[in-house]
Amino acid sequence: MALYAVLSDIHANREALDSVMEHVRNRGVEKILCLGDIVGYNADPDYCVGLLRECGVDSIAGNHDLMAVGKLGFENCWYRVAFTIVVTKRSMREENLRFLKELPTERIYENRFALVHGSLRGPEEYMFSKERVHASLEEMRKRLDSVNICFFGHTHVRKVYEISGGDVRDISLGKELKLCEEKIYFINPGSVDSTRKKGDGNADFLIYDSGSHLVEFISLPYDVEKTVRKSKELGYRMNIYDIAKYMLFHAF
Ligand SMILES: [Fe+2]
Ligand SMILES: [Fe+2]
Repeated sequence: MALYAVLSDIHANREALDSVMEHVRNRGVEKILCLGDIVGYNADPDYCVGLLRECGVDSIAGNHDLMAVGKLGFENCWYRVAFTIVVTKRSMREENLRFLKELPTERIYENRFALVHGSLRGPEEYMFSKERVHASLEEMRKRLDSVNICFFGHTHVRKVYEISGGDVRDISLGKELKLCEEKIYFINPGSVDSTRKKGDGNADFLIYDSGSHLVEFISLPYDVEKTVRKSKELGYRMNIYDIAKYMLFHAF
């Protein structure tokens, strides 16, 4: 039993991660867990991976982390995302790339809860519907019979699915949730990085007390403008013409 912080989709956002880590330090959290996508989109991949390493964070790999170390191809992503990954790789130290390369894609804790990035069927699957939750539930029953809580990321949207008697309910509202031991849960803490998809300017994550079965959802402000400015300046957010110029420049 322990007090955990569960983070997801940091996406190289230094300002958001610093804000989250400061809060976590003051809360007496015993273990920090990360659901992947540490890199991609923003300008500080090396800093973010280095900080997670220093703080002994247990992470799994997201699709962006897997692409950065060549364990996943670019077939399923936009050219701009692929280009960002190329810039990311160039800016990272060898030891941090090695850390990403060694990350597992799934972890189990206390024989009771699992961490995955996309879904139990793989890091690229978006769990955005009850049908997808059902599919992951089947997978859970096949492989992880003792598990009844699954933390997932990838969609960047805070979400709670509660399953009872095969019925999936979306119970995402509220800042606190007391988990019932007889039910099964799929929980997304939302993303630390706010610059993709949601854009509300807050870093989202959760704190989970496995002793009292209490989940607390937290949303913190950070300096979004600074993150976006740096990302543009350092070539992480380019349109196709800028990418062509960059390629030309670096080819000669
Ligand atoms: Fe992501
Ligand atoms: Fe992802």
